[in-house]
Amino acid sequence: MDFDKVVCSCLNITNGMIKDAVEAGATTLEEVQEKTGAGTVCGVCLDDVQHLVEQFVAECGK
Ligand code: FES
Repeated sequence: MDFDKVVCSCLNITNGMIKDAVEAGATTLEEVQEKTGAGTVCGVCLDDVQHLVEQFVAECGK
């Protein structure tokens, strides 16, 4: 995965920033939104952010 790829272009949130939020304890889309703001502007990226959260949560074994 390219961790520098921007997933939320409204706020320039990258894959890596979503991963960091999960590693910092976020386990749901809502918690990642609170930590990063991803998906809180136009909402187009929500599906992508949700998939990333699920993937990183699975990888973290939480
Ligand atoms: S691209 Fe993420 S809120 Fe607009």
